[in-house]
Amino acid sequence: PERSDDYRLAYHLAPPAGWMNDPNGLVHFRGEYHVFYQHHPYSPQWGPMYWGHAKSTDLVHWEHLPIALAPGDPYDRDGCFSGSAVVVEDTLYLIYTGHIWLGDSGNEEQGIRQVQCLASSNDGINFTKHGAVIEAAPHPDIVHFRDPKVWQRDGQWWMALGARLGDDPQLLLYRSQDLYHWDYLGCALTGQRETDGYMWECPDVFTLQGREVFLYSPQGLEPIGYEHWNRFQNGYRLGRLDETGGFTPATDFHEIDHGHDFYAAQTLLAPDGRRLLWAWLDMWNSPMPSQAHQWCGALSLPRELFLEGDQLRMRPARELTALRQSGQALTIGSLEAQSQVLDIRGALLELEFGLELTGSTAERFGLALRCSEDRGEQTLVYFDAMARRLVLDRQHSGAGVEGIRSVPVAPAQTRIALRIFLDRSSIEIFVDDGAYSLSSRIYPHPDSLGISAFAVNGRGIFKEGYAWQLADLKL
Ligand code: FRU
Repeated sequence: PERSDDYRLAYHLAPPAGWMNDPNGLVHFRGEYHVFYQHHPYSPQWGPMYWGHAKSTDLVHWEHLPIALAPGDPYDRDGCFSGSAVVVEDTLYLIYTGHIWLGDSGNEEQGIRQVQCLASSNDGINFTKHGAVIEAAPHPDIVHFRDPKVWQRDGQWWMALGARLGDDPQLLLYRSQDLYHWDYLGCALTGQRETDGYMWECPDVFTLQGREVFLYSPQGLEPIGYEHWNRFQNGYRLGRLDETGGFTPATDFHEIDHGHDFYAAQTLLAPDGRRLLWAWLDMWNSPMPSQAHQWCGALSLPRELFLEGDQLRMRPARELTALRQSGQALTIGSLEAQSQVLDIRGALLELEFGLELTGSTAERFGLALRCSEDRGEQTLVYFDAMARRLVLDRQHSGAGVEGIRSVPVAPAQTRIALRIFLDRSSIEIFVDDGAYSLSSRIYPHPDSLGISAFAVNGRGIFKEGYAWQLADLKL
């Protein structure tokens, strides 16, 4: 029989009970990191949205706090949707979308109304609502109008909003002196249904290494080749934001993570200048088997962002090394068309190792993680030589989750460096120091704890690595 905590994450933020989706209001306030999130405390399903809340001094240990925002006022009657946070002197402000169903049935056909709202707190725990500060979308045909991200630029407050006009997505910008009165600057960027999706959720606009990044979550992009395999994507474009509020893209849309479950990412600026990112470690179409255990949803590990050329890269936040408990060398060497069970086992693990491509002749080689004794359950991470891709295969990862995801390996590359974080129901793979990441939920049986290395049809050479058991923080 399944225990109710089989999937419970050890060191990822998840709701104490009920449902979680997007990270909201990421902010550093009075020496502590605050993370809010879309939350339905009464069931493991999405419902009228609240803002859940947790804080941390070190990005590793988190304290759950009382719910920060509850819906029910005329301007947020049916939900406090996603948004952001800023600090003014000693006050913490939350800016969020008030959601109202116009019919009685909670049915989009009958219409919705979305307005932008403000709340504040002096202690970082108890919040006072100030009502709607933007009461209507700039165009009567815009209905979806949400997820305000507020930041400071040249001494003024700027706000980015995602919108949908007809079937086309838009990035809208507003500006304010005081967070209460907002001037509409205009539509900074418009997309088209076929190439850009029909709605850009959860926009974020920030500067990184002197360049401007527009991070967003488009709905409804179609797969092209190996890209856009999730119905709900998360990606970015670099570009230039001018004073009048136009965004001129310098790159195409690129996915920020290539796993199955990564959506609605948002960032904050840490006091030391790092740009940190969290995402919802699920996606609207994700299977959610933990619902049977009365909870659902988690946030990704915090990641540090940096640019390499036009590519946005992510590394796990350096503080996460504090999770490491006992460690042991990961020594595999060379395998000739065989599989080898390792003496490392566990559900909570960090693995760091390399795949040597020079001299390897195998069709595929890599690791099988979270293996059951009979190998009926396993999660595979391997190099596919024919496709020249690094693959994450969760077709046998438990609870019926399925699908393969992969990232390219450049023709000139002679080695793949991997850093993998396993939690009870998640895997996050960082490839080549953050050049790519693949983040997915997996739901193996709690006894599926084995690891095997394998090489198929030829030689696979593994570069020596290290494995750490990670702490169970019962977050
Ligand atoms: C993104 C999203 C947001 C919205 C929120 C509602 O996942 O759809 O656009 O504000 O979730 O919970």
